[in-house]
Amino acid sequence: MKTPVAVLISGSGSNLQAMLDKAAAGVLAADIRLVLSNRGDAYGLARAAKCGIPTAVVEHGAYPCREAFDTALVAAIRKSGAEVVVLAGFMRILGPGFVTAFSQRILNIHPALLPSFPGVHGQPDAARHGVKISGCTVHFVDEKMDHGPIVIQAAVPAHAEDDGKALGGRILALEHRIFPQAVHWLCTGRLSIVGRHVRLAPADVAPADMSGLGPCLVNPPLEQGF
Ligand code: GAR
Repeated sequence: MKTPVAVLISGSGSNLQAMLDKAAAGVLAADIRLVLSNRGDAYGLARAAKCGIPTAVVEHGAYPCREAFDTALVAAIRKSGAEVVVLAGFMRILGPGFVTAFSQRILNIHPALLPSFPGVHGQPDAARHGVKISGCTVHFVDEKMDHGPIVIQAAVPAHAEDDGKALGGRILALEHRIFPQAVHWLCTGRLSIVGRHVRLAPADVAPADMSGLGPCLVNPPLEQGF
């Protein structure tokens, strides 16, 4: 049984692609019903169209205020039948109206180890700060930016010579692994939120093949197929 999902993007959509690939491989329990962008030129729209997935563009500039934009997003998502919302590089802040409409059913990926380096420049901010480890975080979305309960994190080494691009590339490879996994957990009903903690119900699944990933730490561990 697959859960109907809407994926919201603003750009390249490489995380969307990772999900499309896992769905096509039959390992992701998500039925991607809609790919929605706030920008008409987002390349992710072409990725979706290539897979025959309906797309929509809701331009934030066309709305007088954030509430009106949020209302249009909710309407488009509801129309698609999606029950879970995945923010895959969606670069707009969503207001309380949106968060309430899909309470505990919205996941976001952020390219840093939250609560460090929130915002839209997670990778260059971490590189400039001189951290020795950075990574990515999938979390439930609440009313505050990059704040909700954390589902999974992956850590990678950061080097003195890294700029945001070099560090970001290392992080992105892990994003493509942990995001489909987190979406799968949510779609299969294995996640529950207790305060700030996300509990993952155990399942009899073998660990993932981590070869080729380079030095990293992923917690909770990835499962077979992801
Ligand atoms: C990803 O690195 C994602 O973590 C980041 O945008 C990129 C989108 O790439 N999101 C944020 O910075 C949110 N604050 P993609 O379009 O290729 O998936």
